[in-house]
Amino acid sequence: MSRTAVITGAAGDLGGALCAALSAEGWRVIGVDIRPPADIIADVCDAPKLAEIAAGIGADLKLWVNAAGVLGGGKPGVADLDTWQRLISINLTGTYAGCEAAFSVMRASEGGRIVNVGSLAGQVGGAPGMHPAYGASKAGVHALTKTYAQAGGRHNIRCNAVAPGVLAGSMASSQPEALLAKIARGNPTGRLGQMSEVVQAVLFLGDPERSDYINGAILPINGGLR
Ligand SMILES: NC(=O)c1ccc[n+]([C@@H]2O[C@H](COP(=O)([O-])OP(=O)(O)OC[C@H]3O[C@@H](n4cnc5c(N)ncnc54)[C@H](O)[C@@H]3O)[C@@H](O)[C@H]2O)c1
Repeated sequence: MSRTAVITGAAGDLGGALCAALSAEGWRVIGVDIRPPADIIADVCDAPKLAEIAAGIGADLKLWVNAAGVLGGGKPGVADLDTWQRLISINLTGTYAGCEAAFSVMRASEGGRIVNVGSLAGQVGGAPGMHPAYGASKAGVHALTKTYAQAGGRHNIRCNAVAPGVLAGSMASSQPEALLAKIARGNPTGRLGQMSEVVQAVLFLGDPERSDYINGAILPINGGLR
């Protein structure tokens, strides 16, 4: 048996860092993304494809991380419907598809861990300039997390989410530099978060020996921002 982890959004900053960290800890890692580098090129909106990936791994599937996600610009009054649909589809429906795929295989075996990547925006609403769909999609991810946690508890399945604030990386660099500097200044720590800080939390939530009684948690990783 080789414990296997699936990471969606594997070609991204966080997904890539997760793949590297899990491989270094001895996991067999399957990265999924719509673009290379990924072990499987697939769209998280393609629910049957995610179900097929999970079924192919079977009882070795011990961790599934839904890290695929997109940001979009827009503000109330001029927020377009196409962006709404795209963000809801990838961030929320894609996470639902990943949870379903993992849950059904884990329930039929000896359980496993699902970690969703939510966001501070899902807790307090999106920052200025973010399309309203972003925060809404992440709030939905948080609610999904609690639903799968409740349903999975007796099957040795745990489902938790991390809710990062703004992290240094390519998603943040799509925002104006002045805005990023302001966000960093406004944080109690005076800086942006690091991908590695989220990776450490996911490793913890993915490890039954360290976090077995944590289920349905939305872990803020935001420097203490309120
Ligand atoms: N970077 C931040 O500041 C931040 C903060 C809070 C939450 N998050 C969340 O963390 C996650 C990872 O973000 P990141 O910073 O690594 O961004 P990123 O843009 O570097 O990575 C996102 C990855 O998702 C992939 N992706 C997009 N649509 C997809 C689809 N339909 N199917 C499969 N893959 C798809 C992209 O190709 C990309 O590789 C996202 O869910 C994001 O919303 C990021």
